[in-house]
Amino acid sequence: MKRIAILTAGGDTPALNATIAGAVTRANALQIRVFGIIKGFSGMLNPRFPHLELNPLFHSIPELNPCYGGTILGASRTYIDSRDKTALDAVAHRLKTLQIDGLICIGGDGTINGMQPLAEYLPVVLAPKTIDNDLGLNYPEEANDWIREPSATPGKYTYRKLDTRPDIELDEIINYATPGYATAVYVAASGIERIRTTAESHRRIAIIEVMGRDSGYIALGSAYGQPDMILVPESPIDFDRIEQRVRELYELQKNVVLVVGEGVVTADGRLLGDDAKQFDPSGKPVLSGAAEVIRNELCQRLGDSYFTSKRRNEGASSAIFTRKLGHTQRGGRPIHFDRFQAMQLGGKAVDLLHQGASNYVATLQWTETRGFFVDAVPANKLRDQWGGIHPRLMHKSLYDAARFKPSDFGEKYLAPIFTNAIGPEDLEAVRVNLFHPGNLRHSYQSVNVDIQKRIRLLDG
Ligand code: F6P
Repeated sequence: MKRIAILTAGGDTPALNATIAGAVTRANALQIRVFGIIKGFSGMLNPRFPHLELNPLFHSIPELNPCYGGTILGASRTYIDSRDKTALDAVAHRLKTLQIDGLICIGGDGTINGMQPLAEYLPVVLAPKTIDNDLGLNYPEEANDWIREPSATPGKYTYRKLDTRPDIELDEIINYATPGYATAVYVAASGIERIRTTAESHRRIAIIEVMGRDSGYIALGSAYGQPDMILVPESPIDFDRIEQRVRELYELQKNVVLVVGEGVVTADGRLLGDDAKQFDPSGKPVLSGAAEVIRNELCQRLGDSYFTSKRRNEGASSAIFTRKLGHTQRGGRPIHFDRFQAMQLGGKAVDLLHQGASNYVATLQWTETRGFFVDAVPANKLRDQWGGIHPRLMHKSLYDAARFKPSDFGEKYLAPIFTNAIGPEDLEAVRVNLFHPGNLRHSYQSVNVDIQKRIRLLDG
């Protein structure tokens, strides 16, 4: 293995550069040249095949900084259609022209689908990333527990997971946490803390929407910011119970902070936040608005008089407000946990290729005795019996639906990730960089400008 390529696909996360840096560091030690492909699979579908060498003379380029969020390679949600033989042949030809012996895709569940057909042409492995923490399995046989039923649209199916494992052990989780998740939770928990004090001062009810799609892991981890109630997609919304708990809390403390995972559903499985009926390029619904739906419902149920009668607020619509933390959860400097684990996983991906593995996924494992360590599983282990990949849902045993909080077991799950997740250097970086006087004087220097100067095209 002399030359490998690497790309970042799907939505960005704060730890992508750290994964690339980990891969390059390992490749330097093994004397392997690494070529970055620009903008994920879309770069490979481009006949000009934009790329750059990441380690000329086996030294990492200076633009590759593991502390810097996003990805210097650019990312896209474009994937290769596994049935499009012409496109696949063309991509394989371009990789061959560049004399690439193996490919690392840094991505999530969609990326595995994108990379798998390429495994017919050259060795490919996945280094995981996603703030949603939804790539992996709660227990080793979980992929076999998906069943499918024909949907109303002919030829289409709906998928449902059987509840065969009410309990799991932490050391059987495949891919305990994905790089990006810890930083997203850090941002969410910090945002919740800040919104709390304004809700307290103004006697308000705050509904804070966090990302995560169908998986409630970010919402679960946001418990570190001490919201009063957490609503997760895995536990259907019950407005009667929510209203009751909101009233109890508001009577007690004159403010309530709720966190809602963007993918929450009603008892009949209807998504609360997909009202826009829009889809991203990979075909997933754009989730936006679950918090608003909950706010409208609470406004109606509580009514203005609930707030005005005791002069606590001017009315329901001014007392109840929503905030989406949005892309702040995905951007900026990765915290220590993400940086460190992402670099290990990038290095593991190189080792997998070097050892001749193909169609494998590097994973982050945890056991009580060993702590965190990297390992790998065949990508097919994550697939259901029909070959589909499902986002890992938060396991129900991590959540206490009666209290709207993490369960005792959920607390046990979170502790290894978040205890010491922030390093002193993260705090020092804020102290030194945020109010640096130069920030006022100098315009932002985008890394894209320097990377552009390094990009080469296949047609010269
Ligand atoms: O999958 C990561 C994620 O950040 C989700 O949590 C969120 O729903 C989605 O991507 C948003 O995607 P985009 O930035 O393309 O709108």
